[in-house]
Amino acid sequence: MPSNFNRREFLVLGGAFVAGHAIARGQHPPQGSRVARFQLPLRIPPVLRPVRTDDTTDYYEISQREAEVEILHGLRTDVWGYEGIFPGPTIKARRGRKVVVKQTNRLAVSTVVHLHGGVTPSDSDGFPTDMIMPGESKAYVYPNNQRAATLWYHDHAMHHTGRNLYMGLAGLYLIEDDHEANSLPHGEYDIPLIIQDRRFDADGSLVYEHGNGYRGAKGNIVLVNGSPWPRMEVATRKYRFRFLNASNAKIYRLLLSSGQSFVQIATEGGLLPKPVPIRILSLAMAERAEVIIDFSVYPLGTSLVLQNLNGKGAIEEIMRLDVVRRESDDSVVPERLTVIEPLLEKAAVRTREFVFGTKPTFGLPPVVWTINGKRFEPDRPIAEPRYGDVEIWHLKSDKELGLGMLHPVHLHLVNFQILERNGGPPLPHERGWKDTVSVDKSENVRIIARFDGFKGRYLMHCHNLEHEDHHMMARFDVI
Ligand code: C2O
Ligand code: CU
Ligand code: CU
Repeated sequence: MPSNFNRREFLVLGGAFVAGHAIARGQHPPQGSRVARFQLPLRIPPVLRPVRTDDTTDYYEISQREAEVEILHGLRTDVWGYEGIFPGPTIKARRGRKVVVKQTNRLAVSTVVHLHGGVTPSDSDGFPTDMIMPGESKAYVYPNNQRAATLWYHDHAMHHTGRNLYMGLAGLYLIEDDHEANSLPHGEYDIPLIIQDRRFDADGSLVYEHGNGYRGAKGNIVLVNGSPWPRMEVATRKYRFRFLNASNAKIYRLLLSSGQSFVQIATEGGLLPKPVPIRILSLAMAERAEVIIDFSVYPLGTSLVLQNLNGKGAIEEIMRLDVVRRESDDSVVPERLTVIEPLLEKAAVRTREFVFGTKPTFGLPPVVWTINGKRFEPDRPIAEPRYGDVEIWHLKSDKELGLGMLHPVHLHLVNFQILERNGGPPLPHERGWKDTVSVDKSENVRIIARFDGFKGRYLMHCHNLEHEDHHMMARFDVI
């Protein structure tokens, strides 16, 4: 072995040698930990039980705490988890039934909880300065007067959202109702897939590196529901998968190795009008997509790999699906899933423009990310839509200073529809209710929303969490 090839500088991952970032700086001797692909079973985050219920409300309690978990075989990883688990427990809510979550911060840092996708009163929405200090608690109230959909809750602390999520503070929140296509695969055939990339030190600890917030924190291992390269055994029937990209800064383009299309049935805001077959599923940060995969077309013994076309090496494969049992299937994917009333341009009372760009600082960090040239100002709203008004928001990525990065733009409180992407129609799988839309370099997207639900202080921001932490966030007030 040549002397400059120090075997201690490499982590063995899935049979490939991957340079470990932290290790390359010689912080810790590596253990040569081997992560075998497609060995660990896919885990499903447990559903949290309410501590009590009454006629109108389910009450939950969550403690945010540090815990040691095993993510990589034989190594212990410190995480910050809701209930000490990674990802956090799933909350299942019923449409029209209130949920109150008492969050207690048992961490050493201050935290904020936001229900992403929720139509939530302003004081429970998790404004970044509304922090829960260590040792304190806050009760968040979620009315759930909204369509059935796949939401998620996650940290939103001022300037530290990226780190707090990276350490584990994220979980699913599903709103269900009595109508949402009863005929779709459900129960054990309805599977959440939370995708997050992480970088590990040789001793198993998480390495949070984000280069001054410029590109965002990226990892070299992709976890699904907290496990690297899991495998799932499936039967010869249809399944519903709920994808959530909960990564800080990584965009995925997912594909089945067999070439079969996913049948997309839902976006962030719930069911699409009709199922849409898509071969490649693009998911920017915070986006959700629900798809049906029908495994009845495969002989027993078939293995399918969920692949990622964005990136090279260890992150090209995400998980494996093994067809192991024959089963009959009475689920049906209806031709018409739901009715979505289109928000018409002529209903809009105004158009606002928001440019997502950068500003040099002539210091460190060298740039901050801005909206309309401004840093985040928690005390000053950038827009004040009137309650009930329909508005068009024109979201643009700044060509000159945007440095060629994609910004997933997210609005709190409202779901929106996409009117136009770069002057053309939205992509087929974007024709539903959205709360996050990707705006790539030089792109512009026109969205339309009705600002109702609640009055008060809300946020729009980029969901690259390091961009968000470095100012690509703006307050808007519904008045
Ligand atoms: Cu998913 Cu303001 O966040
Ligand atoms: Cu949100
Ligand atoms: Cu961004």
